[in-house]
Amino acid sequence: MKWTLILLLGISLAETTLGWTYSYSETTMNWTMARQWCQTSFTDMVVIQSQEENDYLVSQLPNRSRSPYYWIGITKAHKNEAWTWIGNNSTWIGEHSWAANEPNNNHSTEFCVEIYVNRSPNRGKWNDEKCANPKYAVCYRAQCSSTSCERGRCQETINNTTCLCEPGFKGDRCETAEQCPVLNHTNFSGGRMNCSHPIGPHSYNSTCEFRCDEGSQLIGEDRIRCDHSGQWTASIPVCTAVECPPLSRPDNGYLSCSGGNQVFNTTCHFKCQLGHLIIGLSSVTCGVSGVWSGPRPACASYKQALLGVAGCGAFSILSCICFCWMKHRKRKKVSQVRQPEEATSSAVSG
Ligand SMILES: *[C@@H]1O[C@H](CO)[C@@H](O)[C@H](O)[C@H]1NC(C)=O
Ligand SMILES: *[C@@H]1O[C@H](CO)[C@@H](O)[C@H](O)[C@H]1NC(C)=O
Ligand SMILES: *[C@@H]1O[C@H](CO)[C@@H](O)[C@H](O)[C@H]1NC(C)=O
Ligand SMILES: *[C@@H]1O[C@H](CO)[C@@H](O)[C@H](O)[C@H]1NC(C)=O
Ligand SMILES: *[C@@H]1O[C@H](CO)[C@@H](O)[C@H](O)[C@H]1NC(C)=O
Ligand SMILES: *[C@@H]1O[C@H](CO)[C@@H](O)[C@H](O)[C@H]1NC(C)=O
Ligand SMILES: *[C@@H]1O[C@H](CO)[C@@H](O)[C@H](O)[C@H]1NC(C)=O
Ligand SMILES: *[C@@H]1O[C@H](CO)[C@@H](O)[C@H](O)[C@H]1NC(C)=O
Ligand SMILES: *[C@@H]1O[C@H](CO)[C@@H](O)[C@H](O)[C@H]1NC(C)=O
Ligand SMILES: *[C@@H]1O[C@H](CO)[C@@H](O)[C@H](O)[C@H]1NC(C)=O
Ligand SMILES: *[C@@H]1O[C@H](CO)[C@@H](O)[C@H](O)[C@H]1NC(C)=O
Ligand SMILES: *[C@@H]1O[C@H](CO)[C@@H](O)[C@H](O)[C@H]1NC(C)=O
Repeated sequence: MKWTLILLLGISLAETTLGWTYSYSETTMNWTMARQWCQTSFTDMVVIQSQEENDYLVSQLPNRSRSPYYWIGITKAHKNEAWTWIGNNSTWIGEHSWAANEPNNNHSTEFCVEIYVNRSPNRGKWNDEKCANPKYAVCYRAQCSSTSCERGRCQETINNTTCLCEPGFKGDRCETAEQCPVLNHTNFSGGRMNCSHPIGPHSYNSTCEFRCDEGSQLIGEDRIRCDHSGQWTASIPVCTAVECPPLSRPDNGYLSCSGGNQVFNTTCHFKCQLGHLIIGLSSVTCGVSGVWSGPRPACASYKQALLGVAGCGAFSILSCICFCWMKHRKRKKVSQVRQPEEATSSAVSG
């Protein structure tokens, strides 16, 4: 009992994987009626797309010794039109499809085609005929349905159906999305990762965005996608700390920085040798944008420092004198407009 059930189930499963099946009528009718009959009871009148299909069809039909034979689904509307298959407008005709001396358009309105299934050398060949003549109908039933393939197009073949998958999908029924290598937070450090998975985890069209923490910069793409072949569109980016331009120790001074590299958040302290005075900040920090918080200081000996102060003082005094003199000269110039040359020479000698 159990075995019978399994056997029955097995047969029905096998049948669902078959491609199209052929059927034929027991009565004759004109081409239009034959097609109508096929469309009512099955999918449509047969369409042949290769010599192999042609031969297979003939092998499935009962032999007939003479006309009428079977209508097939190729036709034309006018004398000068190309023979066209119903359904998808294909114009396939094999090298050996027509019987000898056919199509002859004997009655000048032979716009339909029958297939010979006799035992002569013409077996399996085609003949153009008047569409009003009565012949048997031969039809096919499609096995493909809208649910045959999930993410693809169903293609029928003899004894089989095949799903032609959309890019990014695979499987007998195109039911699985292509997968990319798993990518989670263990693959990316130093920042934040935000992934979306519209179809499946780490699958076709999954997208990850990357952002680095403050003070580090992203090297690589900030957005990668799982492509239709199961590859990420780019490698995972990395975050590297922002670097500040290297600092060197000041003349007659020392430099000590936290950490080895002079990168974001590093603070560097400056000290001067004994007998020297620091001119400027005693420490600077590397900022978010890779710029030190201030300029490097200088170390000056006390003597230099004093001289510097003195020099500064002297410079101030000189500047003051200069300024006063110029102001004075300007006033003089205004009062001597009539003798400019004399004024100039006097200024030079003065
Ligand atoms: C076939 O051709 C006819 C007439 O040119 C057109 O109406 C029809 O849509 C076509 N069918 C297909 C499946 O391309
Ligand atoms: C027409 O349909 C048949 C059967 O589905 C297929 O094999 C053939 O490639 C199609 N031809 C064209 C031109 O689309
Ligand atoms: C053309 O048709 C006539 C009768 O309608 C028939 O006698 C003749 O044999 C046909 N010729 C061919 C080549 O089929
Ligand atoms: C039909 O005729 C062919 C060719 O003579 C032969 O091979 C085949 O067995 C016949 N089929 C039937 C069902 O009689
Ligand atoms: C086919 O037969 C039907 C019914 O017998 C008829 O109405 C129709 O005109 C015929 N068509 C052709 C092209 O002969
Ligand atoms: C289709 O399947 C039938 C039965 O299994 C077999 O006899 C036939 O040769 C097959 N045809 C092709 C073209 O594979
Ligand atoms: C159907 O066709 C597919 C692809 O061409 C092939 O892999 C598969 O084995 C075929 N199945 C049968 C039952 O012939
Ligand atoms: C992420 O890391 C795991 C384990 O370390 C590895 O197997 C996987 O391939 C990595 N993913 C990518 C996209 O490199
Ligand atoms: C990340 O991926 C690795 C393998 O690629 C896996 O072993 C690990 O459990 C995953 N971690 C999380 C949190 O999903
Ligand atoms: C991740 O990205 C999605 C879409 O771009 C957005 O809506 C969401 O807020 C983001 N989540 C985080 C934690 O950034
Ligand atoms: C995958 O993404 C592309 C581009 O963003 C889009 O055109 C396509 O429709 C998506 N495919 C699926 C199956 O969602
Ligand atoms: C930078 O330094 C501040 C204060 O020392 C600390 O709070 C912060 O976490 C540090 N940031 C990084 C990225 O090291």
